[in-house]
Amino acid sequence: MQSKRRILLIIGGGIAAYKCLDLIRRLRERGFSVRAIMTKAAEQFVTPLAVGAISNERVFTELFNLDDEREIGHIRLARDCDLIVVAPATADLLAKMAHGQANDLATSVLLATDKRVLAAPAMNPRMWLNPATQRNVAQLKADGISFIGPAVGEMAERGEAGPGRLAEVPVLIDAIERRLAPRDTAAMPLAGRHVLITSGPTHEPIDPVRYLANRSSGKQGFALAAAARSLGANVTLIAGPVALPDPAGVTVVRIETAAEMLDAVTQALPADVAIFAAAVADWRIAKPKSEKLKKSAGSEPPALKLAENPDILKTIGHRSKDRPRLVVGFAAETENVVANAQKKLKSKAADWIVANDVSPETGIMGGDRNTVHIVTRDGVEHWSDMHKTDVAEKLMVRVAIHLGQQSADIA
Ligand SMILES: Cc1cc2nc3c(=O)[nH]c(=O)nc-3n(C[C@H](O)[C@H](O)[C@H](O)COP(=O)(O)O)c2cc1C
Repeated sequence: MQSKRRILLIIGGGIAAYKCLDLIRRLRERGFSVRAIMTKAAEQFVTPLAVGAISNERVFTELFNLDDEREIGHIRLARDCDLIVVAPATADLLAKMAHGQANDLATSVLLATDKRVLAAPAMNPRMWLNPATQRNVAQLKADGISFIGPAVGEMAERGEAGPGRLAEVPVLIDAIERRLAPRDTAAMPLAGRHVLITSGPTHEPIDPVRYLANRSSGKQGFALAAAARSLGANVTLIAGPVALPDPAGVTVVRIETAAEMLDAVTQALPADVAIFAAAVADWRIAKPKSEKLKKSAGSEPPALKLAENPDILKTIGHRSKDRPRLVVGFAAETENVVANAQKKLKSKAADWIVANDVSPETGIMGGDRNTVHIVTRDGVEHWSDMHKTDVAEKLMVRVAIHLGQQSADIA
């Protein structure tokens, strides 16, 4: 007989905490054992007595409890389960998780665990849409935390509606079941595919301390890598200098210059898909100095002679040997966005161009959101403004569908 699947449920202090009672009951009906941790705030919404009665287990609330520590301890709590579910995941819990804080039992366990974590956010739509929360969610996704919801609808507060409702209990149970089902990685849409992604800016040295660069943050490329990985791909991410952590399960190659990026890309081939999201400098300094340039009184500022950098997208697009089946370029433009992208599609022999307007007023360069246009030989798709992680997920699903169709055509 299959042993009981063990859920550690972390209940945050949100109005939806009461729904956890129903969640626990339904999980137990399906043969799960549920052990709960409640935050201090959660106790304002539902009592440990009720949670304990429904779960038929002891409820944990305190980090500094000598008896609990002797008996099970927060590290064992973090490990003695098959899945940790955070529901409702408050804005506060998400912020603490994203920053690795551990100042109560719930957050200490979340930091100490080696188990998978599923977060079910629930909060007021403005709290959810606040850039701080969106930043935290993007970070947590990059760290490998998975999310279910929030659902869109009416809030407990009168007259408030939007994204922020806790996913309904059957939806939560389905998400939990799916995470615990033996992973058939071979059945994932990008299983067995090698996806190569470039990301971030390049730095072109002027001398040992100065460089030419651009405002690219790398957020879009890193989100693409995480999205490709979550669909089962083997992912190589070639990243220019950015302060983002490696996405879980992705091979990351850190480089500095355009020449190093091209070198890393060619070394990473063959790939099924190559997505060039990096903002590669068009020019480098023709002859960077090996010593720091000195300012001297009365002399002219140095004239910097530029040389053209290799065009990575064009080089790979035109490659006869090892050309990936799908070559996707990103085109950052400040005018005639779609027309310029259509020209690039041809001149660089790309299959798709993802074009975006990076004029300063859009806030896209360095920001968390993106408005893109997908330019292919068949036409142009205009996507609405969305978070960069959503652009990434949508694009990778499109990639998976495209490869699936190609395979079907070949067969
Ligand atoms: C009536 C009331 C309802 C609240 N509902 C929510 C909520 O649904 N989601 C949320 O993120 N925070 C909500 N909060 C704020 C959290 O309770 C607060 O941020 C708390 O510090 C969360 O603590 P925890 O993350 O440790 O559980 C609510 C506060 C009050 C007073």
